[in-house]
Amino acid sequence: MGFRLLEVEQLASGVKRFRISAPRVATSHQAGQFVIVRVEDKGERIPLTVSAVDAPGGWIELIVQEVGHTTAVMHTLNPGDELPDVVGPLGRPTEVDSYGTVAVVGGGVGTAIAYPAAVALAAAGNRVVAIIGARTAELVILEDEMRAAVGEVLVTTDDGTKGQHGFVTGALKALIGEQTVDRVVAVGPIPMMQGVAEVTRPHGIPTIVSLNPIMVDGTGMCGGCRVLVGEETKFACVDGPEFDGHQVDYEVLSLRNRAYLEFEACHRQEQSDAHA
Ligand code: NAD
Ligand code: FES
Repeated sequence: MGFRLLEVEQLASGVKRFRISAPRVATSHQAGQFVIVRVEDKGERIPLTVSAVDAPGGWIELIVQEVGHTTAVMHTLNPGDELPDVVGPLGRPTEVDSYGTVAVVGGGVGTAIAYPAAVALAAAGNRVVAIIGARTAELVILEDEMRAAVGEVLVTTDDGTKGQHGFVTGALKALIGEQTVDRVVAVGPIPMMQGVAEVTRPHGIPTIVSLNPIMVDGTGMCGGCRVLVGEETKFACVDGPEFDGHQVDYEVLSLRNRAYLEFEACHRQEQSDAHA
């Protein structure tokens, strides 16, 4: 039996929220953990971080950006359709303790992963300031949810169509200039997480980033998700996905994540030739 889609909602251009019946995952999931999903019976397995769960309701939510073949197929699904596989929860949960003031930074679709971390950190008694950024106003996601969960939300857009004009890193720098920030959690594109780490490094502010390397089995067996952290090889699926942002080798991560782009492009070309 598959995992039934209960709701599908378009959040922004190319970004959908899927509510999926997965009672066992919903019961044991903690913020920061992810699932590995298969969308087609013989398709690839993709890691997706869980953005919300409801244990009594037996569902989980995944926010998915259309970036390649599998996510494009997932975007064609409707309520009532089923996913053949949802395996999890996998990975280590977000470290949650009493830190003081925590800035939670979400870049674009990364906001979907920053959101549960912000909720958990606020619930633990921290003062959470969320900084969420997108290229343009209509790509800002989860602003209302974030406002309901934490005290303060700063929105940035690269083109200035909403909130502060500029990157999330600019807003973070200004925040750190104005007040004490005890910890930063950042999730988003690799250059953004690297940028956040460079903003906090001179201030010695502990900074956690959530990495999304290519994954295959998600259980530490295949080595597909290797990342270099503080000169040590780590497996994001079992040692992460969250790591010390000051120790991550972002260049190696970018290189490995680009490895399959050519393959994806060939696959898309073959598909379009087949339908021509
Ligand atoms: P995007 O490129 O639109 O960027 C989102 C925001 O990140 C920007 O508005 C800006 O505020 C910030 N940003 C981007 N580049 C920056 C830079 N060089 N310096 C400082 N800040 C910068 O993002 P998107 O299209 O919504 O997201 C797509 C990317 O996010 C993909 O690469 C995807 O793999 C990644 N992603 C990562 C995770 C994760 O777990 N780390 C989760 C979801 C998506
Ligand atoms: Fe295989 Fe992490 S995905 S080791």
